[in-house]
Amino acid sequence: MAIPVIDFSKLNGDERAKTLAQIATCCEEWGFFQLVNHGIPVELLEKVKRVSSESFKKEREEKFNKSTAEKFLNELEKNKSNGKVENVDWEDVFLLTDDNEWPSHVPQFRETMKEYRSELKNLAERVMEVMDENLGLQKGYIKKAFNNIGEEAEEGSENAFFGTKVSHYPPCPNPEMVNGLRAHTDAGGVILLFQDDQVDGLQILKDGVWIDVQPIQNAIVINTGDQIEVLSNGKYKSIWHRVLAKENGNRRSIASFYNPSYKATIAPAPQLIVENHNKEDNKVELISNYPAFVFGDYMNVYTEQKFLPKEPRFQAVRAM
Ligand code: OGA
Ligand code: NI
Repeated sequence: MAIPVIDFSKLNGDERAKTLAQIATCCEEWGFFQLVNHGIPVELLEKVKRVSSESFKKEREEKFNKSTAEKFLNELEKNKSNGKVENVDWEDVFLLTDDNEWPSHVPQFRETMKEYRSELKNLAERVMEVMDENLGLQKGYIKKAFNNIGEEAEEGSENAFFGTKVSHYPPCPNPEMVNGLRAHTDAGGVILLFQDDQVDGLQILKDGVWIDVQPIQNAIVINTGDQIEVLSNGKYKSIWHRVLAKENGNRRSIASFYNPSYKATIAPAPQLIVENHNKEDNKVELISNYPAFVFGDYMNVYTEQKFLPKEPRFQAVRAM
């Protein structure tokens, strides 16, 4: 079984209705799909691959050999244990946001990643508009929900959070003893992943079976996080996924996430709250499957519980 692939350019032509319906099925039944012909220039994508790999080589590769994951794995090997390294991932990360420090040893890294982030943010907003339409919401609904535009918004706190995580999963001598990245659902909104052309390792849990997200050159993998699940009142579920460590190849994977502002209040869209008509007393009951909460509170819980089931997280913020 393979993750569905969508030709995003078809949204602008005769096949718009069919493409919208395909994306709706992806969101409802898969939670993960791949976009091709998404409009991000191939030359830019090629540059992104180059500067990311060069940065890893220059600034990280050597340090990874002294990482906690490496230390734990060495210990298990020394003790001839059959166990598995817990609580650590076989992953190197640098995070890029609008206002943190970026790697600086590769001359074109900054300008390339700045341009890439701007293109990806734009693509995220286009994908969110498709979701608006498929969910029967007003155009721009999700974007507005993620941007905290209320009167009490503090200066600078009103914007949705757009982050980019540049990851490498170096070759691992004992891939069965450690995870590349432990299984989780993503906390935020819409995630856009630019994964390695060759080295695989990303898997999603579909109907109880782990299946590979097959590498497709220059495709962008889309998935929805816990906040889209809440906003859609459970119509679009966030999906468990994980990365396997691999013996060969250094897998590069660049995840960009369009998340709510920490101050934004997230709740099911009123239009998607199911009405339940009780015939006996003719009363209408509204069924909302999720609480309303402030995204920053959710993230405080998520930080502690990322690799656990999401339901207790919703319970925890319900109580706040
Ligand atoms: C993540 C994630 C997958 C990957 O960062 O949340 O799932 O391929 N990454 O790096
Ligand atoms: Ni993830």
